Amino acid sequence: MADKTSTTRRAVLQASLGAGLGLATLSTLFVAGGLKPKKEITPESEPPKEGDRFVVAEGPDKGKLITVDALPLGGPFVLAWPKDPKTGVVKNGERNNLAMIIRFNPDEYDEETRKNTDQGVAVFSAICTHLGCTVSQWLADQKAFLCPCHKGIYDPRHGAKVIGGPPPRPLPMLPVKVENGEVVAAGGFLSPVGVVAGRRSSAPRV
Ligand code: FES
Repeated sequence: MADKTSTTRRAVLQASLGAGLGLATLSTLFVAGGLKPKKEITPESEPPKEGDRFVVAEGPDKGKLITVDALPLGGPFVLAWPKDPKTGVVKNGERNNLAMIIRFNPDEYDEETRKNTDQGVAVFSAICTHLGCTVSQWLADQKAFLCPCHKGIYDPRHGAKVIGGPPPRPLPMLPVKVENGEVVAAGGFLSPVGVVAGRRSSAPRV
């Protein structure tokens, strides 16, 4: 009887250990493989695509369709969400969809940047490539975007290249066209949005 009980206990213990090891192995694989639970893509979180319009993301004009005329020449920029014109859905369910829209005289852009603009309008991701803060401020004297987290500065007239602070790469650009005065996406972002694994700099988060 004693033997039978201890055999049963041993079996339960072994089963628990086995399950524990199994879970541990699974977790290790999960981490090692960089696997993440799949995020469900909804109409609100779908990335911007060709044909999308843009609406103002904040302030008194929130939700208003962005037209060329409404963009001040030479800045500042307007924070915007893409909007699917067919369904009317504003794609504000995914932070990486947040964009900055700016207008300069077309001659002020370098040639490469100008290719993705129309009537002087340019669209960039508003998610900092350093640690992912929102690039929310405008430096009027430098005509540049400022990320307040660690003072990353980007030059919109030169493809949002980094001209100050720790960001490792420019802000992704989104090609744009103007139709009936409205700002329209000519495609999605041309490079990955936000922090790219392995390219993060070592500056401390504040
Ligand atoms: S998160 Fe933008 S500069 Fe650090």
